[in-house]
Amino acid sequence: MDARRSSALEALGITAYVPRARSAAAAPQRAPAVGPAGKDWATLAAAVRECTLCGLCATRTQTVFGIGDVQARLMVIGEAPGAEEDRQGEPFVGRAGQLLNAMLKAAGFDRPQVYIANVLKCRPPNNRDPAADEAARCLPYLRRQIELIDPAVILCVGRIAAQRLLQRDDTLGRLRGRIHRLGRIPVVVTYHPAYLLRSPTEKRKSWEDLKLAMGVMAGGDGT
Ligand code: URA
Repeated sequence: MDARRSSALEALGITAYVPRARSAAAAPQRAPAVGPAGKDWATLAAAVRECTLCGLCATRTQTVFGIGDVQARLMVIGEAPGAEEDRQGEPFVGRAGQLLNAMLKAAGFDRPQVYIANVLKCRPPNNRDPAADEAARCLPYLRRQIELIDPAVILCVGRIAAQRLLQRDDTLGRLRGRIHRLGRIPVVVTYHPAYLLRSPTEKRKSWEDLKLAMGVMAGGDGT
């Protein structure tokens, strides 16, 4: 129904009939008629909460929107919620989250001072990698979050998140150690904290990446 007709009906005190969305399993996988562009925080959060654009809505406990300071200068972007995040509705709350908090602390930030979000808002079953179509359907939400926050720098953790966010196929080794741009927002890529838990010797390189991000925030070009 078009907006003019709907507001005319509303003015007459008539509740317009809007067909209910079909269940995700039955619904054809269509892109949204109206995307997240232009939404404010409240409507964006509601759209994510109610999202059925991909099959992950059938297996999630809840969506994981993002958390932190909506005016943060540093935004952290991960891949997708895991089991604990799916349970609590907050990104990076498991063991990887504790390491992320420690990394942020080392860089001079308390967790509430940054904004943390994921490429996917729903947990892929068994923590599998996000499918290309899931990421494609979910990315507009993240892009709108980035637009609203307008951070000084984005720290993207892990290969998958970086590949999806930057739309590149490079290895993590090729993606880290330099400054990418998303529009005019600088993006620094580093290891995922879950990987650092398995390979603690890489923490040193991760610290170099954090210093690069901090240098960008301080107004440097990171060189
Ligand atoms: N890993 C991620 O990439 N995101 C989370 O929220 C948790 C673990």
